[in-house]
Amino acid sequence: MKPREFVPGIFSVGVVDWDRRLFDSLIPLPDGTSYNAYLIKGSEKTALIDTVDRKMPEVLLDNLDFLGIKHLDYIISNHSEPDHSGAIPHVSAKYPEAQIICTPRAKDILIDLFHLPAEKFKTVNDLETISLGDRTLEFIHAPWVHWPETMLTYLREDKILFPCDFFGSHIATTDLFVTDEGRVYEAAKRYYAEIMMPFRAQIQKNLEKIKGYDFKLIACSHGPMYGEPDFIINAYHEWAFDEPKNIVVLPYISMHGSTKKMVDYLVSSLAVKGVNVEQFDMSVADTGKLAMALVDAGTIVLGTPTVLVGPHPLMAYAAVLANALKPNVKYATIIGSFGWGSKAVETIAGLIPNLKVEIIPPVLCKGQPREADYQALEKLAETIVQKHKESGFK
Ligand code: FEO
Repeated sequence: MKPREFVPGIFSVGVVDWDRRLFDSLIPLPDGTSYNAYLIKGSEKTALIDTVDRKMPEVLLDNLDFLGIKHLDYIISNHSEPDHSGAIPHVSAKYPEAQIICTPRAKDILIDLFHLPAEKFKTVNDLETISLGDRTLEFIHAPWVHWPETMLTYLREDKILFPCDFFGSHIATTDLFVTDEGRVYEAAKRYYAEIMMPFRAQIQKNLEKIKGYDFKLIACSHGPMYGEPDFIINAYHEWAFDEPKNIVVLPYISMHGSTKKMVDYLVSSLAVKGVNVEQFDMSVADTGKLAMALVDAGTIVLGTPTVLVGPHPLMAYAAVLANALKPNVKYATIIGSFGWGSKAVETIAGLIPNLKVEIIPPVLCKGQPREADYQALEKLAETIVQKHKESGFK
């Protein structure tokens, strides 16, 4: 993508990665992604905000050539993860005069990642500023969105926030700005769930920290820019601060149909009682959708058959994933079938120490569920309804 000037003297110079389908060898990218970088020309100095993925440095370098950039004063590194910092060595080689601006913690990480010389760096304190002449960059330390070294850059005169990952969405698009709010809301929520939710407390602090700023535009480093910043700021407040909703998330596996019968019964019973349920067959599920469902869930129910005494390995994966994402769920339980003996409950319980949940007594059945097992599931549904009511989940 060629550079595009969206404010006089400010250009989008990053890369759209239409074909990437997996991030961190973990996160599905159904809509691709982008690595946005921004060039800001001041009356005296020029700064580049973030770079691009290590696999695509030539696109960024070509864009800087296209704009006739012969001299670069600053490379601002808001975040050290290589999808944004991967081209720093290439930009730094092309513009050896450029100082790399980052937090002290980012300097250490970038040196570890790219073996860059320490003298290339200028670290900035929280709220420190750098003048580009008629434009001022203010650096807002915002640790743990989602690495420990992260900062945001605020361009004061133009009221533009460059938050890198914060508020981002994995969408490959030619749109510079959000045009389809529904599509971006879903992609940004998925992104929040996968990347930011484990750091919910820090996200809350950082949302509070930027409350006093006036933003006309949020230009993040994945997905389209927000011309109406309240849209994404309000969404983040909802995801990070709101109490869970009257929702059960139910990832499950069934090998011979017994656990599936239990899942079907429980889902139907909960639905009849007014509880929303999102169920995921972990043999085919999009884990991004599962993560997204967990943002609002009041209860997680894990449905697993017993394999070699323990839970099915894909359910162990679901439990480990939920544990790592640290959703704000309040209740958890397990349902499933076994043939002759099971330690599935004990094993799964040991895999979710990060979930600060009340455990509702599990329902396991031997072989195919019988009438007594369905009655136990009915009781479980009633218990979940009661717990959600007591907790005020809506
Ligand atoms: Fe988009 Fe944390 O990297």
